[in-house]
Amino acid sequence: MTKPVTGADVDVLFSAEVIAARNEELAHEIAAKIGPDFVIVAILKGSCLFIADLLRALHRAGAAPEVDFMSLSSYGDGMTSRGTVSVIRDLQVAVNGRTVLIVDDILETGRTLAHAKDLIAARGATNVFTCVLLDKPVQRAASLSADFHGFICPDKFVVGYGMDVAQRLRELPYIGWVTSR
Ligand code: IMP
Ligand code: MG
Repeated sequence: MTKPVTGADVDVLFSAEVIAARNEELAHEIAAKIGPDFVIVAILKGSCLFIADLLRALHRAGAAPEVDFMSLSSYGDGMTSRGTVSVIRDLQVAVNGRTVLIVDDILETGRTLAHAKDLIAARGATNVFTCVLLDKPVQRAASLSADFHGFICPDKFVVGYGMDVAQRLRELPYIGWVTSR
């Protein structure tokens, strides 16, 4: 149990060391399967720490991707999905004719990733792969699985390592779940 400065109690689920080791493995899996040249579309804001670490691990694995960001929102400030996905900030790179790797923090209902995948495919990407740090299979609504995932996550609301509750706790270097706020 840790107590971040905001006073919430957080149980650690995946430590910083465990995440770092898994990122290296993931980067090698990705480079081996899709090669060195692709476009990363990172979904903000939740993937902000993951993408920063994954990108450096991909460099060590011999990949040299282009990187762009897209902000999608399905959650508002609450702890349950609203069920509709909106684009808050769009891409600047052209993805037509490219291999794309969409990177997100969590795959839960699948609505966010399905929306991003459809959008990128409709823009003419040749191949669209998906990578999520956490796969939470229990609430899945869209029939979708990630091509790459870091960890299977229990059906709990998690925070840290980029993931928030009401825009807080993204700064934690580990992933945990809030036991009291
Ligand atoms: P989906 O559209 O239901 O698959 O939800 C995916 C998005 O919801 C992720 O990109 C996260 O930003 C957010 N999300 C889902 N579960 C959690 C959680 O436990 N903590 C923080 N954010 C979450
Ligand atoms: Mg997100």
